[in-house]
Amino acid sequence: MNEKIRMMYSEAQVDARIRELGAAISADLDGEEVHLVCVLKGASFFACELAKRMTVPVYMDFMCVSSYGNDTRSSGEVRIVKDLDTSVEGKHVLIAEDIIDSGNTLHFLLEEFRKRGAADVKICALLSKPDRREADVTADYIGYVIPDVFVVGYGLDYAQKYRNLPYIGVLDI
Ligand code: IMP
Ligand code: MG
Repeated sequence: MNEKIRMMYSEAQVDARIRELGAAISADLDGEEVHLVCVLKGASFFACELAKRMTVPVYMDFMCVSSYGNDTRSSGEVRIVKDLDTSVEGKHVLIAEDIIDSGNTLHFLLEEFRKRGAADVKICALLSKPDRREADVTADYIGYVIPDVFVVGYGLDYAQKYRNLPYIGVLDI
């Protein structure tokens, strides 16, 4: 339990970046309502802040998925733990995710929402670690591209800890 956390992006920096993302997404949506899907639990802080910075009508929905496999390596198989409340058929879906690592989670969700008949599916991720990619997934909006480090805070956890840190930090174990 000698974990040290090094600040990577301060609360003010993250806040400013989310405002930029919200403005860019709103401009692209041009008044259309969006079905904002928050991927629990990691994206909860990000999705709520992003929703606050969007100027189009936002319908918020929540989904919880988990990947089979051990803690450090996902197996690529994703399972729905909690599904959305509402159908996405004909909707403009925007998935809010905390971080894209292997890309397996988002690859699964993209396929799933397309199968369900969404009008279109876009991805907004607060963070992306492209060096770790296994699945072919490209996000439409990314907060920060980061190297292969383990980050916590702003919703991201290490064994369920540190989600509530108001900034993004690198965990040195
Ligand atoms: P993927 O399916 O491998 O892209 O996994 C994405 C999920 O892994 C994220 O939603 C996070 O919950 C978790 N994850 C990946 N990298 C990190 C990290 O650096 N810190 C905390 N969680 C992470
Ligand atoms: Mg997650």
